[in-house]
Amino acid sequence: MNRTVSSRSSWWAVLAIGAAVMASPTVAADFGAVPMMKVDSKKAALGKRLFFDARLSGDAGVSCSTCHIPEKGFSDGLALSKAYPGSDGFRNTPTLINTAQKAAWFHDGRIGTNLNDVTRESITETYVMNMDMRLMQERLKQDPIYVKMFKDAGYGEPSNGSVRKAIPEYLKTLTSRGAPFDSGKMSDSAQRGFELFKGKAGCSQCHSGSRFSDDTAHNIGVPENPEIWSNPARHMTYVAFGMFMGIENYMNIRRDVGAHIRTHKSDGSDIGKFMTPTLRELTHTGPYMHNGVMKTLEDVVAFYNRGGGDDPNKDPRIKPLGLSKEERTILVAFLKSLSGTPLTGPEHVWKDTINVNYAVIKDWLNQRN
Ligand code: HEC
Ligand code: HEC
Repeated sequence: MNRTVSSRSSWWAVLAIGAAVMASPTVAADFGAVPMMKVDSKKAALGKRLFFDARLSGDAGVSCSTCHIPEKGFSDGLALSKAYPGSDGFRNTPTLINTAQKAAWFHDGRIGTNLNDVTRESITETYVMNMDMRLMQERLKQDPIYVKMFKDAGYGEPSNGSVRKAIPEYLKTLTSRGAPFDSGKMSDSAQRGFELFKGKAGCSQCHSGSRFSDDTAHNIGVPENPEIWSNPARHMTYVAFGMFMGIENYMNIRRDVGAHIRTHKSDGSDIGKFMTPTLRELTHTGPYMHNGVMKTLEDVVAFYNRGGGDDPNKDPRIKPLGLSKEERTILVAFLKSLSGTPLTGPEHVWKDTINVNYAVIKDWLNQRN
């Protein structure tokens, strides 16, 4: 008897939850604070030193933090990124805050496995850090501080495999906090902007979840950045990338094909699709879009209000919005309320000078660290 009653009441509970979900198409819980991640503190501390250490690059002059600058939300403030000396970049440097919670990385989403692969790619790619990881490993073994840190972190002697684990462990510590949106301190206009964002403006169709991204690529018609094609140092990097990634006609095209480099659709319908970026930390990470063509959030909102750019592949959901000046202002106020406390303290930034004047280990080939 008792059993019947209890099993019936749990059925009611299931039905009640179902009804609640159906009654509200936009579930408020969709947009919570970004959850903190569980982190191994010793591995993350090692990853932090590695992230700020230029010895991880071929010429010992470029570190991850050359382009991912803490004061700029771990982006660089440039429209198009720098690159390894002798070349120049063709994409905007994305923020690394909350990056450990993404499903796919880079503006085209070409790495969909894990941050271990992104780390390898960043270190070895010729136009990023241009490092041979075998050499990197031997360099690290000469530094007594690393020898100790790798050991303390449980990795044994420095190796390229453990670098590819320690840096992602550090990246897991970079989580947004303190945004007015999360602390309940949104201004009245930001609050109204949020309603517009979810409603009439239709932004949450793609910018959803706690990071405000669906981790999917779409074409919204962002215009090309002519600087990529007029500056030979940037163009040459794109040509090398295109050749390596198997883009047809890479010598002659004058556009960034985006996700096409991984999906290679024969009808070209994937050309110009880029991953939906997070909308968190925007006040620290301009200029915007994969190629940095939009300087301000006002520019971005004006772009959407016009119905996005001109592109035969454009997503049908991007169309003129007819927002008034007041509505555009509150939408920007909402976007700004998603930026939190800068992650610039010692918890997130390696503050000690990295001393490279250590004695080289004698007879090192016969030593085990
Ligand atoms: C020369 C500048 C530069 C350096 C150095 C650099 N990056 Fe980046 N990083 C970029 C750019 C530009 C992109 C976007 C590339 C693209 O879309 O093709 C990027 C993308 C990323 C992403 C993906 C973010 C996302 O939202 O998809 C991660 C993670 C990342 N970098 C981590 C690192 C790490 C770790 C290092 C050091 C091992 C590093 N980067 C070194 C410029 C740089
Ligand atoms: C169809 C999906 C879609 C819709 C709808 C959409 N976006 Fe986007 N959004 C994207 C994609 C994709 C990008 C990146 C495009 C690129 O890099 O070329 C983007 C980029 C952005 C950026 C730049 C972020 C950065 O760091 O560079 C902002 C800000 C933004 N969108 C805000 C909005 C607002 C506000 C709305 C509603 C008016 C909106 N989006 C509607 C898909 C969408």
